[in-house]
Amino acid sequence: MKSGPKSKAMFDRATRALSGGVSSNFRYWGDDSTLVVKNAKGAYLWDQDDKRYVDYRLGFGPVILGHARQEISDHISEAMTIGNCFAMTNEYEIRVAEKIKKMAGVDLVRMTNTGTEATMGAMRIARAFTGRDKILKFDGAYHGFHDYSLWNTYPPTSGVGYKNAPFLVPQGSGIPRSVGDLMYSLPFNNKEILEKKLKERWHEIACIIVEPLLGNQASIMPQDGFLDFVRDQCTKYGIVMIMDEVKTGFRIAKGGAQQYFNVKADLVTYAKCLGNGFPAAAIAGQKNIMGEVGPGKIPHGGTYGGNVVAMAAADKVLDLIEAGELDKVNDHGKKLKAGWKKILDSAGVPYVIQGADAMPGIVFTEEKVCTEYSHWANGDHDTYDSIIDKCIEKGVMPDCDSREPWFISSCHTDKDLEFVLGVFEESVREVIK
Ligand SMILES: Cc1ncc(COP(=O)(O)O)c(C=O)c1O
Repeated sequence: MKSGPKSKAMFDRATRALSGGVSSNFRYWGDDSTLVVKNAKGAYLWDQDDKRYVDYRLGFGPVILGHARQEISDHISEAMTIGNCFAMTNEYEIRVAEKIKKMAGVDLVRMTNTGTEATMGAMRIARAFTGRDKILKFDGAYHGFHDYSLWNTYPPTSGVGYKNAPFLVPQGSGIPRSVGDLMYSLPFNNKEILEKKLKERWHEIACIIVEPLLGNQASIMPQDGFLDFVRDQCTKYGIVMIMDEVKTGFRIAKGGAQQYFNVKADLVTYAKCLGNGFPAAAIAGQKNIMGEVGPGKIPHGGTYGGNVVAMAAADKVLDLIEAGELDKVNDHGKKLKAGWKKILDSAGVPYVIQGADAMPGIVFTEEKVCTEYSHWANGDHDTYDSIIDKCIEKGVMPDCDSREPWFISSCHTDKDLEFVLGVFEESVREVIK
């Protein structure tokens, strides 16, 4: 897929002012193919050449209620008249915390601006609370861009070694090796390996941070009982269970993954859908831990947490979600999955469709079901990438990174679906001859 002439010219201009022409490495698609956005509305996004795309990236997931949603913009415009940043408590912030408590069944909340800040803060809270230093995560899980997240996020499978004694691979340069001494990363969905590690090392481990479904591995699902097992082991060993709901929160259910999978974590992190694209994020959790966050106790701070614009966005987003917008999201996702299945069955390729309806993913693999990172990593990404490249060329835009699921918004319609499945079928046919 090549960008049009106006996008290309604008991207060339961007490269002279922004490192690599982007504000995040994940947004660089290549010198000739990195699109520059002109505008977006509802489920659609237009590039600089006025080419329209049905958007299933939704800004890496947040925009669940559609781009430039009028009710949210109006609410923010009104809220902004009181000012934005006070670094003092304001009423919008209180309202959002009250709504998160009610919808997600948590006791107390602290606001942040990004998912990265939320997971970093939650890890700090867990360390202070337990008096232990080590963090346990799962291979293929991504918890943001700080140093305690970027281990075994998507390593070459040969680099991870044998699953009973895996190595830790940093995502890139600049992450101190010494941070790796404070980390464990284990295969997702493997109770035996987790149990063994905890039996030996529980006394060092402050928290287990888990993406309830691997939203950064094409939505690999937890197998029956795995999250319950993590919960039980955390309780047994006094380890803080952090559910990283940055992608799943206020998306897969009103109460997020805690509700969807019926598992209660000690701490939960939210971002993305909480603000529908505005930088609203939060650390939430049970009173016994979150009640310890405060002056002279567990440190947490920041200038912009709870600012009026982000909180007004979240205030309206949570009202709209409470009023039932997720029904439309789930309905579209269900139909999209059914459409994919029909098309891929007739193409005769081995595949797995997985994930919650609100964020489904596809892996081309001989596996019956993907349960861990290596299943995704050993999949046929060339085929997936080629199909997605053609979809984008034809006006349907999931992320071109095969680790990203397709994100559904409440603005995607049945009419869009007809177009989208037509494009998907044509693309599959052109790639799988
Ligand atoms: C599960 C998860 N946690 C944390 C983050 C980091 O969030 P942010 O990009 O808002 O810093 C992400 C981002 O994709 C994520 O998917």
